[in-house]
Amino acid sequence: MSLQGQLSASISSSSSAFLAPSVFINSSRAVNVSVPSKRLGVCRCVATPTEEVTAYKTTVSRNANIAKLQAGYLFPEIARRRAAHLVKYPDAKVISLGIGDTTEPIPEVITSAMAQRSYALSTVEGYSGYGAEQGERPVRAAIASTFYKDLGIEEDDIFVSDGAKCDISRLQVVFGSDVTVAVQDPSYPAYVDSSVILGQTGLYQKDIQKYANIEYMKCSPENGFFPDLSTVARTDIIFFCSPNNPTGSAATREQLTQLVQFAKDNGSIIVYDSAYAMYMSDDNPRSIFEIPGAKEVALETASFSKYAGFTGVRLGWTVIPKQLLFSDGFPVAKDFNRIVCTCFNGASNISQAGGLACLSPEGLKAMHEVIGFYKENTQIIMETFNSLGFKVYGGTNAPYVWVHFPGQSSWDVFAEILEKTHVVTTPGSGFGPGGEGFIRVSAFGHRENVLEACRRFKQLYK
Ligand SMILES: Cc1ncc(COP(=O)(O)O)c(C=O)c1O
Repeated sequence: MSLQGQLSASISSSSSAFLAPSVFINSSRAVNVSVPSKRLGVCRCVATPTEEVTAYKTTVSRNANIAKLQAGYLFPEIARRRAAHLVKYPDAKVISLGIGDTTEPIPEVITSAMAQRSYALSTVEGYSGYGAEQGERPVRAAIASTFYKDLGIEEDDIFVSDGAKCDISRLQVVFGSDVTVAVQDPSYPAYVDSSVILGQTGLYQKDIQKYANIEYMKCSPENGFFPDLSTVARTDIIFFCSPNNPTGSAATREQLTQLVQFAKDNGSIIVYDSAYAMYMSDDNPRSIFEIPGAKEVALETASFSKYAGFTGVRLGWTVIPKQLLFSDGFPVAKDFNRIVCTCFNGASNISQAGGLACLSPEGLKAMHEVIGFYKENTQIIMETFNSLGFKVYGGTNAPYVWVHFPGQSSWDVFAEILEKTHVVTTPGSGFGPGGEGFIRVSAFGHRENVLEACRRFKQLYK
């Protein structure tokens, strides 16, 4: 195969990474890696100017809030670096423990329900078009009884969706641009990025790597990954994720009780992200609604993505209790309903058939097995880094291991690991300035890949 052909093959098999000339930075040296900047496989004439002249521009101004966003979203940036690495090492067996996408097949008890629903769509009796925007009744009822039994959450408090990330953005549309937000630092990037897009923030301040007008609640080993609320400024909205992505830490009942009280004292709304609740091993709350009084100050978003391998199928849900009111007494759920009806149109009926199967006794058993498999991966990764003398956090209650590299730049560590082991991790600073000096290693991977990655880590750090 020609060199151009090899490059094309190795890149096109990766992701939708933005392909541009890039500099691959390593702590000890910098290597220029040039990859084709436009369509691969298109042979360009030597005389083609590198700068393409745009012939026509509309008169529409770019959304100034989107223009505030820094570089790419974290994971496309990682995919870009992975692609550049493959150009440099076309034969490398790259192992990805980075983005946090699931790898194991969906249990058949779940896919067979989706297949049946899918085939039924080809029959007159089984066909259905638009469904209820809030989700199908049986799915809402099954979510309520499976995850919120005895917590006073009713089926009509539940909105079934195409995933937690999508709901986070829809919630931001509900809140609008005039609210202030707080996030754990580090945190899942969608909270900050959606906040910037909605215009809730000021500009990015490069020196401190923070957006103006966002309250970053530092979560580090020093405070047990729970923010010191006495130093946190009041905001309208508080995004809080437990078990946490990326640190893998989970808040205790006492800590969540403090958080609910803090929200109540400040008149704030907590957006509680419980996307990893089923990974909890310790006796911590799996839902914010386990905390008395939370229904007046919190809503919760969750997902089937990491329980059943639904990252591609797409199904999640958001719980908004009737008791949660805006300052004028209007229910938050009613405004969310309006946004769901306007901007969404309900989750796919096939995905919902899968979701219902997930919540059957056999489906629940199968999900626990999938989660158990990833938790074994987590153990293997934790043991590896522990044996190498690193300080390792998370893991027990989440599929993420948070490894400390004190005094080092996360991107340098990420680059060194990729360069020397061909393993993709995630640099902690990509989740906020509080993640500097850490890398996140995801437990989502085939067992042989996790074992191989750990063998390579042992060689690198022995
Ligand atoms: C904390 C957190 N929330 C939400 C999501 C997105 O979930 P979904 O696939 O349901 O959109 C993720 C995915 O990685 C996540 O880590």
